[in-house]
Amino acid sequence: MRIPIVAGNWKMNMCSADSVALARSIRQELTDPGGVEVVVCPVSTVLNAVSDALDDSSISVSGQNCYHAENGAFTGELSPQMLHDAGCTWTILGHSERRHIFGETNALLNQKIKFALSSGLNVMFCIGETLEERESGTMNDVLQQQIGEGLAELNENAMEHVVIAYEPVWAIGTGLTATSEQAEEAHAFVRSVVQDKFSGTVAESLRIQYGGSVKPDNTVELMSQPNVDGALVGGASLDAESFVAIVRAAQS
Ligand code: PGA
Repeated sequence: MRIPIVAGNWKMNMCSADSVALARSIRQELTDPGGVEVVVCPVSTVLNAVSDALDDSSISVSGQNCYHAENGAFTGELSPQMLHDAGCTWTILGHSERRHIFGETNALLNQKIKFALSSGLNVMFCIGETLEERESGTMNDVLQQQIGEGLAELNENAMEHVVIAYEPVWAIGTGLTATSEQAEEAHAFVRSVVQDKFSGTVAESLRIQYGGSVKPDNTVELMSQPNVDGALVGGASLDAESFVAIVRAAQS
């Protein structure tokens, strides 16, 4: 039995007042998350404030990215230790915006994932194909490579702290959602790749989130698929009502 996980990726949105207000509203609405693990991912400057607002609640806080060193001359970067210090238990790594806008490679992500895990963070590792890759029939190769290279040299125990977010790039922020069949097909493939790379046990317990224009009205359909174990939500997570509605839909 895999515990569903719904995370809100706030991306580069909201300063402290709005972030804290959103966190408080979510907390108020979700006194009982009903068996769903709930995570919010604010911008780094407000992590402390949001963590304080969610203190002693069942909602966890996540970074959106981090570097693979504890400290040092890495201007503009943030370490897993700093995320911990700001109240985070999770970090996203490999979001498609990091890959495509900031040029992060599978090899770099592998270093980041290993370091974040060894520093005690849980990782939401994002993968996904572009429209061009899907249409040219290379989608499965791309996913396989992202998993193979991104999760290289991890052992089975480390995988207990990894969630994979399958986010087709063409569905992110576009209003286009993969159909539940497309999502299920990709998730089943991801699980089979993880089974080949690690083991049946790891594949069976791995949670795979879907991301890409998740909204309250498509969550039930997506989450009813056997291999869809949660959602990574961008735009719809910036509004307490719609984010809470997505969590409630995931409960059902
Ligand atoms: P979206 O973003 O829900 O706005 O499509 C999802 C994501 O980027 O994680």
